[in-house]
Amino acid sequence: MTRSSVLELLQSDRFLQEVTVKGWVRTFRSNRFIALNDGSTINNIQCVIDFESTTQETLKRINTGAAIAVKGTLVESQGKGQSVEIQVTELEILGDSNPDEYPIQPKKHSLEFLRENAHLRVRTNTFSAVMRVRSALSFAVHRYFQENGFYYVNTPIITGSDAEGAGEMFKVTSFEANKAPIDEAGKIDYKQDFFGKETNLTVSGQLEAETYAMALGKVYTFGPTFRAENSNTTRHLAEFWMIEPEVAFNDLDANMDLSEDFIRYVLNYVLVNCKEDLDFLDQRLTQEEKSKPQAQRSEMSLLEKLNFVVNNNFKRVSYTEAIDILRNSKPNKKKKFQFPINEWGADLQSEHERYLVEKHFKCPVILFDYPATIKAFYMRLNEDGKTVRAMDVLFPGIGEIVGGSQREERLDVLKEKMAALDIDEKELWWYLDTRKFGTAVHAGFGLGFERLVQFTTGMGNIRDVIPFPRTPQNAEF
Ligand code: 4AD
Ligand code: MG
Repeated sequence: MTRSSVLELLQSDRFLQEVTVKGWVRTFRSNRFIALNDGSTINNIQCVIDFESTTQETLKRINTGAAIAVKGTLVESQGKGQSVEIQVTELEILGDSNPDEYPIQPKKHSLEFLRENAHLRVRTNTFSAVMRVRSALSFAVHRYFQENGFYYVNTPIITGSDAEGAGEMFKVTSFEANKAPIDEAGKIDYKQDFFGKETNLTVSGQLEAETYAMALGKVYTFGPTFRAENSNTTRHLAEFWMIEPEVAFNDLDANMDLSEDFIRYVLNYVLVNCKEDLDFLDQRLTQEEKSKPQAQRSEMSLLEKLNFVVNNNFKRVSYTEAIDILRNSKPNKKKKFQFPINEWGADLQSEHERYLVEKHFKCPVILFDYPATIKAFYMRLNEDGKTVRAMDVLFPGIGEIVGGSQREERLDVLKEKMAALDIDEKELWWYLDTRKFGTAVHAGFGLGFERLVQFTTGMGNIRDVIPFPRTPQNAEF
């Protein structure tokens, strides 16, 4: 008989029919009721066994975490809490789980404890819900772009240029650490290395994506990126996934429109397609909020927040306006910010971003036209000569979720900016070629996928929305 998933059976009305299901035992009570889960849904199916006809030996092996196969009759449930159940006629233990050793017991575990058991934590309701939502979000990302005429580009993970300056990089080499050849100047001789030059793991696929946008028109990347910063926060990973659309002929306004439309679409997709998981995560967060002091509690539930973003425009504010707001804000005057805002040109820290979003505007904000001095070399210089066409999308509870810009398409201006920052033209000759041959206005942005998953699921720590997080001092699994 073909195997059904728990999801199919819970939605089915094939009453009094024979069904087969396989999964892992969540709980077993009264030597009679098994709650079985197979990952297809957050809900378990109740399997009722006939105590008389089940051997003592089998009963002892129905432990939390064990894999079992069940054959039986699907019936309408008499008990509370479920609509259907299986009256078991045959039960086979596929894989035992020793109750004295299995770490995931049917009780509340701390997120820290579960992080140490990242290979098993997805067997909990919270993590299975998060990972199903993550999967749906990535499908929605592809669907949005594919439906809107974008092509998916796979940019390299190993890169030969470290000019973007988006962050510290991880070196890629085939030299053994203590046996790297030394050149005449006493430095490591990368000419003898695998690629014949210094290489790193990429911090962003943008520069390569730009070359593709200048031929395919509308492109996007969706892949892993790496940053070797030693930031131990709830929002930073050393390995994370980034989505980077890049569009020929788009200016900054069109870029902002795209970021809003895109984020709304993917959030709406999961609201429609992940209802049960989101309901669960909504309740989880409400429960968690109750343990916080009143002043720190969020005014909206998770579902309210998601619906709010889907149904409201983001507020667009220039950097200069934002600095005025921050300078005159209560926390700044009362010296509550760790980094006080004194003058125009200051880099914004996450405390400032969160003040703007959570306290002042109370909605997602797009900040634009930042000082050139605090942004990357490739951003288009404004007529004022001191600001660039940059944009950051700021979200409640997250801070920066998107960073992007209109790109500098004028060869002479780009070269001047690179010279000022000591970036070697020879290293980026291929990037400069796009400005030499058929240059055009273009723009794009990068969205940190894990930050999006964090926002969507309400998880407070970014380590809990990626299966196996990579952070400083941590690469187990
Ligand atoms: O603002 P960033 O550094 O922008 C770029 O890399 C551009 N090249 C993007 C582009 O224009 N194509 O990074 C983009 C986003 C951030 O807004 C943030 O959401 C996420 O990537 N991000 C991180 N997420 C997790 N851990 C980290 N260490 C991150 N660093 C950036
Ligand atoms: Mg940024």
